[in-house]
Amino acid sequence: MNTHISPTQRLALVTGANKGIGYAVAEGLLGRGMTVYLGARDTYRGTSAVSALVARGYDARFVQLDVTDQASVDAAAMTIAQDAGELDILVNNAGVLATPIHAPSATSVDEMRETYEINVFGVVAVTNAMLPLLRRSAAARIVNITSNLGSVSLAASSRGFPQLLAYNSSKASLNAITVTYANELRNAGILVNAVSPGSVATDQNGHGGVLTAEQGALLPIRMATLPSDGPTGTAVTADEDLTHHRLPW
Ligand SMILES: NC(=O)c1ccc[n+]([C@@H]2O[C@H](COP(=O)([O-])OP(=O)(O)OC[C@H]3O[C@@H](n4cnc5c(N)ncnc54)[C@H](OP(=O)(O)O)[C@@H]3O)[C@@H](O)[C@H]2O)c1
Repeated sequence: MNTHISPTQRLALVTGANKGIGYAVAEGLLGRGMTVYLGARDTYRGTSAVSALVARGYDARFVQLDVTDQASVDAAAMTIAQDAGELDILVNNAGVLATPIHAPSATSVDEMRETYEINVFGVVAVTNAMLPLLRRSAAARIVNITSNLGSVSLAASSRGFPQLLAYNSSKASLNAITVTYANELRNAGILVNAVSPGSVATDQNGHGGVLTAEQGALLPIRMATLPSDGPTGTAVTADEDLTHHRLPW
């Protein structure tokens, strides 16, 4: 396969892209003419997803990427560096919601650690590994896929709010991480935002969500393709009618 990428081609990496929202985000970016690396921890699942997109004429590429494995993260960065030398868009999408769901008082530290390894530490590992490539882009964007469940304000003001200790706190941490990177990278012109896709029917929720994966991908794609005067350090979410608004911290 010819892995060379033209200097003018926009290049994106989506983590956890073999299915669900990540796959739909990758598909949407490909549909906008970009080259997209689909990161997947499992080679079979990743190459299967990429093959389906390549068969439709897209420049989709598989990269093995387990966000909890530093060697895998470093190897993915090396692959993209060798192919393209830079990266325009990073979508930190890979995430887990551990099941069965326990009450906060019955949640083990191990469950917290496992969730944080992917939803929090994995984002930091991938972002730091990709930043040298993102800094070479003229218009780099980072999108961190958060959740309405990560909103501390909503949790504090709603009695019926799901009390998922590991998941909610991991996404709240991701929101803080988003703002922290945004502040560091503002002067470099790299826009960093957190995006909650809304309630999306995927494996994560037993397909109990309201939106399709394609609908859930719309806001992440919009934030991944912001103009240079676009916002940074924000969190946004999509409602069931696909309207978009700020997500309270
Ligand atoms: N669905 C919703 O309503 C909703 C709402 C708000 C936020 N989100 C967030 O949206 C993102 C995507 O979720 P989804 O709903 O599309 O769920 P999904 O269909 O379960 O997809 C999750 C993806 O993350 C990958 N992943 C898990 N652990 C990984 C690891 N260690 N390294 C790399 N990839 C890993 C999975 O890979 P495997 O196939 O190998 O497991 C899969 O590709 C998550 O961050 C989730 O928290 C979802």
